[in-house]
Amino acid sequence: MSTAADDVVVGQQVKQHPYKRVLLKLSGEVLMGDTAFGIDADTISRLAVELIEVQASGVDLAIVIGGGNIFRGMSGTASGMDRASADYMGMLATMMNSIALQDAIERQGGTVRVISALHIKEIAEPYIRRRAVRHLEKGRILIFAAGTGNPYFTTDTAASLRAMEIQADAVLKGTKVDGVYTADPVRNPDAKKYETLTFTEALSKRLGVMDATAMSLCRDNHMPIVVFDVTTPGQMLKAVSGEAVGTLVQEN
Ligand code: GTP
Repeated sequence: MSTAADDVVVGQQVKQHPYKRVLLKLSGEVLMGDTAFGIDADTISRLAVELIEVQASGVDLAIVIGGGNIFRGMSGTASGMDRASADYMGMLATMMNSIALQDAIERQGGTVRVISALHIKEIAEPYIRRRAVRHLEKGRILIFAAGTGNPYFTTDTAASLRAMEIQADAVLKGTKVDGVYTADPVRNPDAKKYETLTFTEALSKRLGVMDATAMSLCRDNHMPIVVFDVTTPGQMLKAVSGEAVGTLVQEN
């Protein structure tokens, strides 16, 4: 781990250091804004401003972005497509989102690099772990494109894996919902939000924080996950500062 989030006692109050290095998982849908498909220009610009703000606050920021706003591997297989082919298309969708996000961050004055799990070197650098870490050390925002580069793995799993590899302090899962609920809050008005959860609870109750592969990887490697609403401005900065936003999934 990099400098972990240690507790320090200030007077009688226990304050938490902000995370020093985070892996932010963004669902592709976040880029759609209020549209039904693709990338909304205002949404991605706003997001870029926030990402730069977070990185400028002193946090090493690496990002894994999904591709569901462009292509969903699961809907490909549902329509009869071979799973591996559909997943490769999903990886290319994450590549498109990564390039768009890189462009948006640069237009807002940020420094950013895209690293791809698939060899597509005319478009992005290939994934080399030590190089990725070096980019972070040099203060660049880092975008990991193309998931893990393997079919049958989700971008959530890519986020967990890369978080481990770069020795992040936490995975921040930015979604359209402000945490993990006992039931779907859209369909069930009585659903309650969890402030904290253990991995075991999340897995056994199938709470849908992340898929089981991604979750077990985080559990086995003591990597906390913060699920928060990335569509509300300011939440991301709070999440990296260790403030109580969304739901914190950890060991105990
Ligand atoms: P340092 O070597 O740490 O200074 O990093 P750097 O990324 O600034 O330097 P480099 O000269 O390696 O890269 C310059 C630009 O080329 C950056 O935008 C990189 O992302 C990009 N780049 C580097 N390698 C590749 C590659 O294999 N393919 C593509 N498409 N871009 C690359």
